[in-house]
Amino acid sequence: MSLHHTCDVLVIGSGAAGLTLALRLAGHARVAVLSKKNLQEGSTLWAQGGVAAVLEEDEAGIESHISDTLEAGAGLCHEDVVRHTVTHAKAAIEWLLEIGVPFTSDKESGNHAGLHLTREGGHSHRRIVHAADATGRAIETTLEQQARAHPNIRVYEHHMAIDLITSKKLGKPGKNRVLGAYVLDRKSGHSMVFHARSVALATGGASKVYLYTTNPDLSTGDGIAMGWRAGCRVANMEFNQFHPTCLYHHDERTFLLTEAIRGEGGRLLLPDGTRFMDKYDPRAELAPRDIVARAIDNEMKRLGIENIFLDISHKPESFIKSHFPNIYERTLALGYDMTQEPLPVVPAAHYTCGGIMTDMEGHTDVEGLYAIGEVSFTGLHGANRMASNSLLECLVFATSASDSILRQLAGWSLEETLPDWDESRVTNSDEEVVVVHNWEELRHFMWDYVGIVRTDKRLERAKRRVDLLIHEIQEYYSNFRISPDLLELRNLVCVADLIIRCAIQRKESRGLHYTLDYPEAASEPQDTVLSP
Ligand code: FAD
Ligand code: SIN
Repeated sequence: MSLHHTCDVLVIGSGAAGLTLALRLAGHARVAVLSKKNLQEGSTLWAQGGVAAVLEEDEAGIESHISDTLEAGAGLCHEDVVRHTVTHAKAAIEWLLEIGVPFTSDKESGNHAGLHLTREGGHSHRRIVHAADATGRAIETTLEQQARAHPNIRVYEHHMAIDLITSKKLGKPGKNRVLGAYVLDRKSGHSMVFHARSVALATGGASKVYLYTTNPDLSTGDGIAMGWRAGCRVANMEFNQFHPTCLYHHDERTFLLTEAIRGEGGRLLLPDGTRFMDKYDPRAELAPRDIVARAIDNEMKRLGIENIFLDISHKPESFIKSHFPNIYERTLALGYDMTQEPLPVVPAAHYTCGGIMTDMEGHTDVEGLYAIGEVSFTGLHGANRMASNSLLECLVFATSASDSILRQLAGWSLEETLPDWDESRVTNSDEEVVVVHNWEELRHFMWDYVGIVRTDKRLERAKRRVDLLIHEIQEYYSNFRISPDLLELRNLVCVADLIIRCAIQRKESRGLHYTLDYPEAASEPQDTVLSP
Protein backbone atom coordinates (compact mmCIF):
# COMPACT_ATOMS: atom_id res chain seq x y z
CA MET A 1 0.00 0.00 0.00
CA SER A 2 1.42 3.35 -1.08
CA LEU A 3 1.67 5.96 1.60
CA HIS A 4 2.21 8.73 -0.95
CA HIS A 5 -0.58 10.20 -3.13
CA THR A 6 -0.44 12.97 -5.68
CA CYS A 7 -3.10 15.30 -7.08
CA ASP A 8 -3.32 18.80 -8.52
CA VAL A 9 -5.55 20.16 -5.77
CA LEU A 10 -6.09 18.66 -2.33
CA VAL A 11 -9.43 19.74 -0.85
CA ILE A 12 -9.59 19.08 2.88
CA GLY A 13 -13.29 18.84 3.73
CA SER A 14 -16.44 17.67 1.96
CA GLY A 15 -19.17 20.08 3.08
CA ALA A 16 -20.80 22.74 0.90
CA ALA A 17 -17.48 24.58 0.53
CA GLY A 18 -15.22 21.61 -0.22
CA LEU A 19 -17.53 19.77 -2.63
CA THR A 20 -18.48 22.94 -4.51
CA LEU A 21 -14.80 23.72 -4.97
CA ALA A 22 -14.03 20.16 -6.10
CA LEU A 23 -16.85 20.18 -8.65
CA ARG A 24 -15.90 23.60 -9.97
CA LEU A 25 -12.26 22.45 -10.45
CA ALA A 26 -12.81 18.94 -11.71
CA GLY A 27 -13.28 19.83 -15.39
CA HIS A 28 -9.66 21.03 -15.48
CA ALA A 29 -7.71 19.43 -12.63
CA ARG A 30 -7.25 16.16 -10.70
CA VAL A 31 -8.82 16.73 -7.31
CA ALA A 32 -8.53 14.70 -4.09
CA VAL A 33 -11.18 15.34 -1.42
CA LEU A 34 -10.55 14.33 2.18
CA SER A 35 -13.30 13.73 4.67
CA LYS A 36 -12.67 13.09 8.33
CA LYS A 37 -15.60 10.66 8.54
CA ASN A 38 -17.99 9.75 5.74
CA LEU A 39 -18.43 12.22 2.93
CA GLN A 40 -21.78 13.62 4.06
CA GLU A 41 -20.92 14.30 7.67
CA GLY A 42 -20.38 17.97 8.53
CA SER A 43 -22.41 21.02 9.46
CA THR A 44 -23.74 21.35 5.93
CA LEU A 45 -25.77 18.16 6.26
CA TRP A 46 -27.57 19.58 9.32
CA ALA A 47 -28.36 23.04 7.97
CA GLN A 48 -32.07 23.72 8.27
CA GLY A 49 -33.15 27.28 7.43
CA GLY A 50 -31.66 27.80 3.98
CA VAL A 51 -29.55 30.02 1.75
CA ALA A 52 -30.12 33.78 1.61
CA ALA A 53 -30.35 35.08 -1.95
CA VAL A 54 -32.04 37.77 -4.01
CA LEU A 55 -33.26 35.86 -7.04
CA GLU A 56 -34.28 38.72 -9.33
CA GLU A 57 -32.27 41.47 -11.02
CA ASP A 58 -33.56 43.73 -8.30
CA GLU A 59 -31.24 46.49 -7.18
CA ALA A 60 -33.37 47.47 -4.18
CA GLY A 61 -33.54 43.82 -3.10
CA ILE A 62 -29.75 43.48 -3.31
CA GLU A 63 -29.18 46.73 -1.41
CA SER A 64 -31.52 45.56 1.32
CA HIS A 65 -29.73 42.16 1.65
CA ILE A 66 -26.46 44.13 1.92
CA SER A 67 -27.79 46.56 4.53
CA ASP A 68 -29.36 43.79 6.66
CA THR A 69 -26.02 41.91 6.62
CA LEU A 70 -24.11 45.07 7.61
CA GLU A 71 -26.59 45.82 10.38
CA ALA A 72 -26.42 42.27 11.81
CA GLY A 73 -22.60 42.43 11.62
CA ALA A 74 -22.58 45.39 14.04
CA GLY A 75 -20.18 47.63 12.15
CA LEU A 76 -17.48 45.09 11.38
CA CYS A 77 -18.51 43.59 8.02
CA HIS A 78 -16.27 44.46 5.09
CA GLU A 79 -18.74 46.14 2.78
CA ASP A 80 -16.92 45.16 -0.44
CA VAL A 81 -17.03 41.50 0.60
CA VAL A 82 -20.71 41.72 1.52
CA ARG A 83 -21.50 43.27 -1.84
CA HIS A 84 -19.44 40.63 -3.69
CA THR A 85 -21.23 37.80 -1.86
CA VAL A 86 -24.75 39.16 -2.16
CA THR A 87 -24.42 39.95 -5.87
CA HIS A 88 -23.20 36.40 -6.61
CA ALA A 89 -26.03 34.73 -4.66
CA LYS A 90 -28.40 34.39 -7.60
CA ALA A 91 -25.78 32.57 -9.70
CA ALA A 92 -25.00 30.27 -6.77
CA ILE A 93 -28.65 29.24 -6.42
CA GLU A 94 -29.01 28.79 -10.18
CA TRP A 95 -26.02 26.42 -10.16
CA LEU A 96 -27.54 24.39 -7.31
CA LEU A 97 -30.80 24.16 -9.25
CA GLU A 98 -28.91 23.03 -12.36
CA ILE A 99 -27.22 20.17 -10.51
CA GLY A 100 -30.59 19.14 -9.07
CA VAL A 101 -31.00 20.46 -5.51
CA PRO A 102 -34.73 20.05 -4.72
CA PHE A 103 -35.58 23.43 -3.19
CA THR A 104 -39.15 23.98 -2.00
CA SER A 105 -41.21 25.59 -4.73
CA ASP A 106 -44.09 28.04 -4.56
CA LYS A 107 -45.77 28.96 -7.82
CA GLU A 108 -47.15 32.14 -6.25
CA SER A 109 -43.81 33.38 -4.94
CA GLY A 110 -43.38 35.92 -7.75
CA ASN A 111 -39.71 35.02 -8.40
CA HIS A 112 -38.76 33.60 -11.82
CA ALA A 113 -37.48 30.35 -10.32
CA GLY A 114 -40.81 29.74 -8.56
CA LEU A 115 -39.12 29.06 -5.20
CA HIS A 116 -40.67 29.51 -1.79
CA LEU A 117 -38.81 32.08 0.31
CA THR A 118 -38.78 32.08 4.09
CA ARG A 119 -37.50 34.58 6.63
CA GLU A 120 -35.11 34.51 9.62
CA GLY A 121 -33.66 36.87 12.22
CA GLY A 122 -32.07 40.07 10.89
CA HIS A 123 -33.71 39.77 7.45
CA SER A 124 -36.10 42.61 6.65
CA HIS A 125 -37.62 40.58 3.79
CA ARG A 126 -38.37 37.01 2.80
CA ARG A 127 -35.27 35.99 0.84
CA ILE A 128 -34.27 32.55 2.09
CA VAL A 129 -34.32 29.71 -0.39
CA HIS A 130 -34.82 26.38 1.35
CA ALA A 131 -35.75 22.70 1.05
CA ALA A 132 -38.45 22.49 3.74
CA ASP A 133 -36.55 22.36 7.06
CA ALA A 134 -33.66 20.20 5.79
CA THR A 135 -31.91 22.46 3.29
CA GLY A 136 -28.41 21.24 4.15
CA ARG A 137 -29.33 17.60 3.52
CA ALA A 138 -30.74 18.48 0.09
CA ILE A 139 -27.58 20.41 -0.85
CA GLU A 140 -25.06 17.98 0.61
CA THR A 141 -26.59 14.82 -0.89
CA THR A 142 -26.79 16.41 -4.35
CA LEU A 143 -23.18 17.62 -4.17
CA GLU A 144 -22.13 14.17 -2.94
CA GLN A 145 -23.79 12.38 -5.86
CA GLN A 146 -22.11 14.72 -8.34
CA ALA A 147 -18.68 14.40 -6.72
CA ARG A 148 -18.77 10.60 -6.49
CA ALA A 149 -19.70 10.36 -10.16
CA HIS A 150 -16.93 12.67 -11.43
CA PRO A 151 -13.92 10.87 -12.95
CA ASN A 152 -11.49 13.65 -11.89
CA ILE A 153 -12.50 13.63 -8.23
CA ARG A 154 -11.04 11.03 -5.91
CA VAL A 155 -12.74 10.83 -2.55
CA TYR A 156 -10.87 9.72 0.59
CA GLU A 157 -13.38 9.11 3.38
CA HIS A 158 -12.22 8.53 6.97
CA HIS A 159 -8.98 10.33 6.13
CA MET A 160 -8.05 13.04 8.58
CA ALA A 161 -5.54 15.75 7.71
CA ILE A 162 -2.93 16.00 10.48
CA ASP A 163 -0.97 19.03 9.30
CA LEU A 164 -0.02 20.95 6.20
CA ILE A 165 3.42 20.52 4.65
CA THR A 166 4.97 23.86 3.69
CA SER A 167 8.29 24.95 2.26
CA LYS A 168 8.99 26.89 5.46
CA LYS A 169 8.47 23.85 7.68
CA LEU A 170 10.92 21.92 5.47
CA GLY A 171 13.47 24.73 5.83
CA LYS A 172 13.35 25.70 2.14
CA PRO A 173 14.25 29.29 1.25
CA GLY A 174 11.90 31.77 -0.45
CA LYS A 175 8.19 32.38 -0.08
CA ASN A 176 6.27 30.09 2.25
CA ARG A 177 4.38 27.73 -0.09
CA VAL A 178 2.07 24.81 0.60
CA LEU A 179 3.35 21.47 -0.75
CA GLY A 180 0.79 18.98 0.57
CA ALA A 181 -0.42 17.47 3.82
CA TYR A 182 0.10 14.61 6.25
CA VAL A 183 -3.07 12.56 6.54
CA LEU A 184 -4.18 9.82 8.95
CA ASP A 185 -6.13 6.94 7.42
CA ARG A 186 -8.47 6.28 10.34
CA LYS A 187 -9.26 2.72 9.29
CA SER A 188 -5.73 1.38 8.75
CA GLY A 189 -4.03 3.74 11.21
CA HIS A 190 -1.36 4.61 8.59
CA SER A 191 -0.11 8.17 8.19
CA MET A 192 0.15 9.18 4.53
CA VAL A 193 1.66 12.00 2.51
CA PHE A 194 -0.45 13.88 -0.04
CA HIS A 195 1.55 15.88 -2.60
CA ALA A 196 -0.45 18.70 -4.17
CA ARG A 197 0.14 21.81 -6.24
CA SER A 198 -2.54 23.64 -4.29
CA VAL A 199 -4.43 22.85 -1.07
CA ALA A 200 -7.79 24.17 0.13
CA LEU A 201 -8.91 24.12 3.74
CA ALA A 202 -12.68 23.54 3.82
CA THR A 203 -12.86 21.96 7.26
CA GLY A 204 -15.78 23.91 8.77
CA GLY A 205 -15.97 25.61 12.15
CA ALA A 206 -14.90 25.04 15.73
CA SER A 207 -18.08 25.10 17.84
CA LYS A 208 -17.12 21.83 19.54
CA VAL A 209 -14.84 23.95 21.69
CA TYR A 210 -18.00 24.65 23.73
CA LEU A 211 -19.82 22.17 25.94
CA TYR A 212 -23.21 22.72 24.27
CA THR A 213 -23.35 23.10 20.51
CA THR A 214 -25.65 22.56 17.54
CA ASN A 215 -22.68 21.26 15.54
CA PRO A 216 -21.75 17.68 14.69
CA ASP A 217 -18.74 16.16 16.47
CA LEU A 218 -16.28 16.94 13.72
CA SER A 219 -16.43 20.76 14.12
CA THR A 220 -13.14 20.84 15.98
CA GLY A 221 -11.45 23.73 14.17
CA ASP A 222 -8.83 21.49 12.49
CA GLY A 223 -8.38 23.80 9.50
CA ILE A 224 -8.01 26.92 11.63
CA ALA A 225 -5.33 25.20 13.73
CA MET A 226 -3.54 23.71 10.70
CA GLY A 227 -3.58 27.05 8.86
CA TRP A 228 -2.29 28.88 11.93
CA ARG A 229 0.54 26.36 12.39
CA ALA A 230 1.39 26.73 8.69
CA GLY A 231 1.86 30.49 9.03
CA CYS A 232 -1.57 32.03 8.30
CA ARG A 233 -3.03 34.96 10.19
CA VAL A 234 -6.39 34.47 11.88
CA ALA A 235 -8.96 37.13 12.71
CA ASN A 236 -12.02 37.82 14.86
CA MET A 237 -12.01 34.52 16.71
CA GLU A 238 -13.85 36.14 19.64
CA PHE A 239 -17.09 36.18 17.63
CA ASN A 240 -18.60 32.79 18.43
CA GLN A 241 -22.23 32.70 17.48
CA PHE A 242 -24.70 31.10 19.89
CA HIS A 243 -27.93 30.00 18.22
CA PRO A 244 -30.89 31.01 20.40
CA THR A 245 -32.97 27.86 19.97
CA CYS A 246 -31.38 24.46 20.44
CA LEU A 247 -33.84 21.86 21.76
CA TYR A 248 -33.40 21.33 25.52
CA HIS A 249 -33.55 17.58 26.02
CA HIS A 250 -31.40 15.14 27.97
CA ASP A 251 -31.04 12.59 25.15
CA GLU A 252 -30.75 15.02 22.26
CA ARG A 253 -28.25 17.77 23.00
CA THR A 254 -27.51 19.21 19.59
CA PHE A 255 -30.87 19.39 17.81
CA LEU A 256 -31.47 22.81 16.28
CA LEU A 257 -34.91 24.40 15.98
CA THR A 258 -34.52 26.59 12.93
CA GLU A 259 -34.88 30.33 13.13
CA ALA A 260 -37.37 29.96 10.27
CA ILE A 261 -39.85 28.84 12.96
CA ARG A 262 -39.64 32.39 14.32
CA GLY A 263 -39.60 33.68 10.73
CA GLU A 264 -42.97 32.02 10.22
CA GLY A 265 -44.46 33.46 13.41
CA GLY A 266 -42.94 31.39 16.28
CA ARG A 267 -42.75 33.14 19.68
CA LEU A 268 -40.27 32.90 22.54
CA LEU A 269 -41.97 32.42 25.91
CA LEU A 270 -41.03 32.35 29.57
CA PRO A 271 -42.30 29.38 31.65
CA ASP A 272 -45.45 31.38 32.59
CA GLY A 273 -46.28 31.86 28.90
CA THR A 274 -45.31 35.54 28.58
CA ARG A 275 -43.35 36.91 25.65
CA PHE A 276 -40.21 38.90 26.48
CA MET A 277 -38.26 39.72 23.32
CA ASP A 278 -39.99 43.08 22.74
CA LYS A 279 -38.33 44.29 25.99
CA TYR A 280 -34.95 43.83 24.29
CA ASP A 281 -35.46 44.87 20.66
CA PRO A 282 -38.31 46.31 18.55
CA ARG A 283 -37.81 43.43 16.09
CA ALA A 284 -38.63 41.06 18.98
CA GLU A 285 -38.16 37.39 17.94
CA LEU A 286 -36.69 38.47 14.60
CA ALA A 287 -33.84 40.54 16.01
CA PRO A 288 -30.35 39.33 14.99
CA ARG A 289 -29.09 36.24 16.76
CA ASP A 290 -26.63 37.89 19.14
CA ILE A 291 -29.43 40.00 20.63
CA VAL A 292 -31.89 37.11 20.95
CA ALA A 293 -29.33 34.70 22.48
CA ARG A 294 -28.21 37.32 25.00
CA ALA A 295 -31.80 38.13 25.94
CA ILE A 296 -32.55 34.44 26.56
CA ASP A 297 -29.36 34.06 28.60
CA ASN A 298 -30.37 37.09 30.65
CA GLU A 299 -33.91 35.81 31.29
CA MET A 300 -32.61 32.36 32.25
CA LYS A 301 -30.14 33.87 34.72
CA ARG A 302 -32.70 36.37 36.07
CA LEU A 303 -35.30 33.69 36.78
CA GLY A 304 -32.89 30.85 37.58
CA ILE A 305 -34.47 28.59 34.94
CA GLU A 306 -32.85 25.94 32.74
CA ASN A 307 -34.62 26.80 29.49
CA ILE A 308 -37.26 28.98 27.88
CA PHE A 309 -39.84 27.94 25.24
CA LEU A 310 -40.40 28.31 21.50
CA ASP A 311 -44.05 28.20 20.49
CA ILE A 312 -45.66 27.98 17.07
CA SER A 313 -48.70 25.95 18.13
CA HIS A 314 -50.99 28.93 17.34
CA LYS A 315 -50.44 28.20 13.62
CA PRO A 316 -52.57 25.58 11.84
CA GLU A 317 -51.37 21.99 12.22
CA SER A 318 -51.12 21.50 8.44
CA PHE A 319 -48.92 24.62 8.12
CA ILE A 320 -46.51 23.39 10.80
CA LYS A 321 -46.31 19.88 9.37
CA SER A 322 -45.67 21.08 5.82
CA HIS A 323 -43.09 23.77 6.73
CA PHE A 324 -41.22 21.84 9.40
CA PRO A 325 -41.76 18.14 8.65
CA ASN A 326 -38.40 16.90 9.99
CA ILE A 327 -38.50 18.98 13.16
CA TYR A 328 -42.09 17.89 13.78
CA GLU A 329 -41.18 14.18 13.45
CA ARG A 330 -37.99 14.43 15.51
CA THR A 331 -39.55 16.36 18.40
CA LEU A 332 -42.61 14.09 18.37
CA ALA A 333 -40.29 11.09 18.77
CA LEU A 334 -38.78 12.87 21.78
CA GLY A 335 -42.20 13.41 23.37
CA TYR A 336 -43.30 16.89 22.18
CA ASP A 337 -46.13 17.70 19.79
CA MET A 338 -45.17 21.14 18.45
CA THR A 339 -48.59 21.59 16.85
CA GLN A 340 -50.08 21.57 20.36
CA GLU A 341 -47.42 22.79 22.79
CA PRO A 342 -44.28 24.94 23.09
CA LEU A 343 -40.81 23.33 22.79
CA PRO A 344 -38.14 23.81 25.50
CA VAL A 345 -35.04 25.58 24.13
CA VAL A 346 -31.62 26.93 25.17
CA PRO A 347 -28.88 28.79 23.28
CA ALA A 348 -25.91 26.70 22.07
CA ALA A 349 -22.66 27.39 20.23
CA HIS A 350 -23.43 27.38 16.53
CA TYR A 351 -21.01 29.20 14.24
CA THR A 352 -17.40 30.41 14.15
CA CYS A 353 -17.40 33.90 12.59
CA GLY A 354 -13.61 34.26 12.70
CA GLY A 355 -11.02 32.06 11.05
CA ILE A 356 -8.13 31.95 8.59
CA MET A 357 -7.81 35.34 6.89
CA THR A 358 -8.49 35.32 3.17
CA ASP A 359 -9.20 37.73 0.37
CA MET A 360 -12.24 37.53 -1.92
CA GLU A 361 -10.75 34.57 -3.80
CA GLY A 362 -9.95 32.53 -0.69
CA HIS A 363 -6.14 33.12 -0.81
CA THR A 364 -4.42 32.81 2.56
CA ASP A 365 -0.98 34.11 3.62
CA VAL A 366 0.67 30.87 2.38
CA GLU A 367 1.17 30.58 -1.37
CA GLY A 368 -1.08 27.96 -2.98
CA LEU A 369 -3.15 27.55 0.21
CA TYR A 370 -6.84 28.54 0.17
CA ALA A 371 -9.46 28.62 2.93
CA ILE A 372 -13.18 28.55 2.16
CA GLY A 373 -16.41 28.15 4.12
CA GLU A 374 -16.71 28.33 7.88
CA VAL A 375 -12.95 27.82 8.40
CA SER A 376 -12.26 31.19 6.81
CA PHE A 377 -12.48 34.82 7.80
CA THR A 378 -13.48 36.74 4.70
CA GLY A 379 -14.96 39.85 6.32
CA LEU A 380 -18.52 38.91 5.34
CA HIS A 381 -19.99 38.29 8.79
CA GLY A 382 -18.47 41.05 10.92
CA ALA A 383 -19.28 40.74 14.61
CA ASN A 384 -22.36 38.55 14.03
CA ARG A 385 -23.31 36.39 11.04
CA MET A 386 -26.78 36.92 9.69
CA ALA A 387 -28.85 33.74 9.32
CA SER A 388 -28.44 31.78 6.08
CA ASN A 389 -25.44 33.80 4.90
CA SER A 390 -23.04 30.96 5.69
CA LEU A 391 -24.02 28.42 3.05
CA LEU A 392 -24.06 31.35 0.66
CA GLU A 393 -20.48 32.22 1.60
CA CYS A 394 -19.41 28.57 1.06
CA LEU A 395 -20.88 28.57 -2.46
CA VAL A 396 -19.69 32.00 -3.56
CA PHE A 397 -16.14 31.71 -2.22
CA ALA A 398 -15.67 28.14 -3.49
CA THR A 399 -16.49 29.46 -6.94
CA SER A 400 -14.13 32.45 -6.79
CA ALA A 401 -11.37 30.26 -5.28
CA SER A 402 -11.74 27.75 -8.12
CA ASP A 403 -11.30 30.54 -10.69
CA SER A 404 -8.17 31.70 -8.92
CA ILE A 405 -6.70 28.19 -8.55
CA LEU A 406 -7.28 27.37 -12.20
CA ARG A 407 -5.60 30.60 -13.28
CA GLN A 408 -2.48 29.85 -11.27
CA LEU A 409 -2.20 26.05 -11.17
CA ALA A 410 0.14 25.76 -14.17
CA GLY A 411 2.70 27.93 -12.38
CA TRP A 412 2.78 25.71 -9.27
CA SER A 413 4.93 22.57 -9.52
CA LEU A 414 4.37 19.33 -7.64
CA GLU A 415 7.04 18.64 -5.03
CA GLU A 416 8.17 15.08 -5.81
CA THR A 417 10.04 14.34 -2.59
CA LEU A 418 8.33 15.02 0.69
CA PRO A 419 9.43 13.36 3.93
CA ASP A 420 7.36 10.51 5.40
CA TRP A 421 5.46 11.07 8.62
CA ASP A 422 8.02 10.45 11.37
CA GLU A 423 6.95 8.05 14.12
CA SER A 424 10.46 7.04 15.17
CA ARG A 425 10.35 8.85 18.51
CA VAL A 426 6.86 8.01 19.76
CA THR A 427 5.32 5.01 21.52
CA ASN A 428 1.75 3.83 22.12
CA SER A 429 -0.04 5.87 24.74
CA ASP A 430 -0.30 4.39 28.22
CA GLU A 431 -2.71 7.05 29.50
CA GLU A 432 -5.60 7.73 27.10
CA VAL A 433 -7.46 9.17 30.10
CA VAL A 434 -5.45 12.39 29.70
CA VAL A 435 -7.07 13.00 26.30
CA VAL A 436 -10.62 12.33 27.55
CA HIS A 437 -10.12 14.45 30.65
CA ASN A 438 -8.65 17.40 28.76
CA TRP A 439 -11.44 17.34 26.16
CA GLU A 440 -14.01 17.65 28.96
CA GLU A 441 -12.13 20.29 30.89
CA LEU A 442 -11.57 22.47 27.85
CA ARG A 443 -15.20 22.46 26.71
CA HIS A 444 -16.44 23.15 30.25
CA PHE A 445 -14.30 26.18 30.95
CA MET A 446 -14.90 27.62 27.48
CA TRP A 447 -18.64 27.41 28.16
CA ASP A 448 -18.36 28.92 31.66
CA TYR A 449 -15.75 31.63 31.05
CA VAL A 450 -15.79 32.45 27.32
CA GLY A 451 -19.53 32.15 26.61
CA ILE A 452 -22.36 34.56 25.82
CA VAL A 453 -21.42 37.06 28.55
CA ARG A 454 -17.74 37.62 29.34
CA THR A 455 -15.61 39.58 31.82
CA ASP A 456 -11.87 40.28 32.04
CA LYS A 457 -11.65 38.04 35.09
CA ARG A 458 -13.36 35.10 33.35
CA LEU A 459 -11.15 35.47 30.28
CA GLU A 460 -7.98 35.59 32.40
CA ARG A 461 -9.12 32.46 34.24
CA ALA A 462 -9.69 30.73 30.90
CA LYS A 463 -6.28 31.87 29.62
CA ARG A 464 -4.46 30.36 32.62
CA ARG A 465 -6.23 27.05 32.05
CA VAL A 466 -5.67 26.95 28.32
CA ASP A 467 -1.94 27.66 28.77
CA LEU A 468 -1.63 24.64 31.05
CA LEU A 469 -3.56 22.42 28.65
CA ILE A 470 -1.47 23.52 25.65
CA HIS A 471 1.68 22.51 27.50
CA GLU A 472 0.27 19.16 28.61
CA ILE A 473 -1.21 18.27 25.21
CA GLN A 474 1.97 19.23 23.33
CA GLU A 475 3.99 16.99 25.62
CA TYR A 476 1.56 14.13 25.03
CA TYR A 477 1.60 14.72 21.26
CA SER A 478 5.42 14.62 21.19
CA ASN A 479 5.65 11.34 23.06
CA PHE A 480 2.77 9.19 21.88
CA ARG A 481 1.39 7.84 18.61
CA ILE A 482 -1.39 9.98 17.17
CA SER A 483 -5.10 9.11 17.29
CA PRO A 484 -8.08 11.07 15.87
CA ASP A 485 -9.09 12.15 19.39
CA LEU A 486 -5.62 13.43 20.18
CA LEU A 487 -5.41 15.33 16.87
CA GLU A 488 -8.79 16.94 17.48
CA LEU A 489 -7.89 17.88 21.04
CA ARG A 490 -4.61 19.44 19.86
CA ASN A 491 -6.57 21.51 17.32
CA LEU A 492 -9.35 22.45 19.75
CA VAL A 493 -6.94 23.71 22.38
CA CYS A 494 -5.16 25.79 19.73
CA VAL A 495 -8.49 27.30 18.64
CA ALA A 496 -9.56 27.93 22.25
CA ASP A 497 -6.34 29.84 22.79
CA LEU A 498 -6.97 31.94 19.65
CA ILE A 499 -10.54 32.70 20.82
CA ILE A 500 -9.41 33.75 24.29
CA ARG A 501 -6.55 35.89 22.95
CA CYS A 502 -8.89 37.70 20.55
CA ALA A 503 -11.51 38.16 23.29
CA ILE A 504 -8.93 39.61 25.69
CA GLN A 505 -7.80 42.10 23.02
CA ARG A 506 -11.30 43.42 22.36
CA LYS A 507 -11.98 46.10 24.98
CA GLU A 508 -15.58 46.80 23.97
CA SER A 509 -18.91 44.99 23.48
CA ARG A 510 -19.90 44.45 19.88
CA GLY A 511 -22.09 41.85 18.20
CA LEU A 512 -21.35 38.41 19.62
CA HIS A 513 -18.63 39.63 21.99
CA TYR A 514 -20.32 41.01 25.08
CA THR A 515 -18.29 41.86 28.19
CA LEU A 516 -19.57 43.35 31.44
CA ASP A 517 -16.29 45.25 31.83
CA TYR A 518 -16.73 47.22 28.58
CA PRO A 519 -20.48 47.23 27.85
CA GLU A 520 -20.33 49.91 25.13
CA ALA A 521 -19.12 49.64 21.54
CA ALA A 522 -15.93 51.58 20.72
CA SER A 523 -16.24 54.44 18.25
CA GLU A 524 -13.84 52.91 15.68
CA PRO A 525 -14.73 49.31 14.83
CA GLN A 526 -11.66 47.14 14.19
CA ASP A 527 -10.95 43.51 13.38
CA THR A 528 -8.82 41.54 15.83
CA VAL A 529 -5.95 40.08 13.83
CA LEU A 530 -3.44 37.58 15.24
CA SER A 531 -0.19 36.75 13.44
CA PRO A 532 1.66 33.46 14.09
P1 FAD B 1 -18.80 21.55 6.95
O1 FAD B 1 -20.06 21.33 6.23
O2 FAD B 1 -18.83 21.53 8.43
O3 FAD B 1 -17.80 20.42 6.46
C1 FAD B 1 -16.54 20.26 7.06
C2 FAD B 1 -15.82 19.12 6.34
O4 FAD B 1 -14.46 19.12 6.74
C3 FAD B 1 -16.37 17.74 6.68
O5 FAD B 1 -16.38 16.99 5.48
C4 FAD B 1 -15.29 17.14 7.60
O6 FAD B 1 -15.19 15.75 7.52
C5 FAD B 1 -14.05 17.79 7.04
N1 FAD B 1 -12.93 17.89 7.96
C6 FAD B 1 -12.84 18.60 9.11
N2 FAD B 1 -11.61 18.44 9.64
C7 FAD B 1 -10.93 17.61 8.81
C8 FAD B 1 -9.63 17.06 8.83
N3 FAD B 1 -8.75 17.31 9.80
N4 FAD B 1 -9.28 16.23 7.82
C9 FAD B 1 -10.16 15.91 6.83
N5 FAD B 1 -11.39 16.42 6.77
C10 FAD B 1 -11.76 17.26 7.74
N6 FAD B 1 -25.96 28.10 7.54
C11 FAD B 1 -26.78 28.64 6.63
O7 FAD B 1 -26.36 29.46 5.81
N7 FAD B 1 -28.11 28.28 6.60
C12 FAD B 1 -28.63 27.39 7.47
O8 FAD B 1 -29.81 27.07 7.40
C13 FAD B 1 -27.79 26.82 8.45
N8 FAD B 1 -28.28 25.95 9.36
C14 FAD B 1 -27.41 25.32 10.21
C15 FAD B 1 -27.90 24.35 11.08
C16 FAD B 1 -27.03 23.64 11.88
C17 FAD B 1 -27.54 22.58 12.81
C18 FAD B 1 -25.64 23.93 11.84
C19 FAD B 1 -24.67 23.16 12.71
C20 FAD B 1 -25.15 24.93 11.01
C21 FAD B 1 -26.04 25.63 10.19
N9 FAD B 1 -25.58 26.62 9.33
C22 FAD B 1 -26.43 27.19 8.43
C23 FAD B 1 -24.15 26.89 9.21
C24 FAD B 1 -23.63 26.13 7.97
O9 FAD B 1 -24.30 24.90 7.88
C25 FAD B 1 -22.16 25.88 8.04
O10 FAD B 1 -21.46 27.06 8.34
C26 FAD B 1 -21.65 25.35 6.70
O11 FAD B 1 -22.39 24.21 6.32
C27 FAD B 1 -20.19 25.02 6.77
O12 FAD B 1 -19.84 24.35 5.59
P2 FAD B 1 -18.34 23.96 5.36
O13 FAD B 1 -18.27 23.31 4.02
O14 FAD B 1 -17.45 25.10 5.64
O15 FAD B 1 -18.04 22.87 6.52
C1 SIN C 1 -31.36 28.05 11.30
O1 SIN C 1 -32.00 27.40 10.48
O2 SIN C 1 -31.85 28.63 12.26
C2 SIN C 1 -29.89 28.18 11.11
C3 SIN C 1 -29.64 29.13 10.04
C4 SIN C 1 -28.20 29.57 10.04
O3 SIN C 1 -27.41 29.20 10.91
O4 SIN C 1 -27.86 30.34 9.14
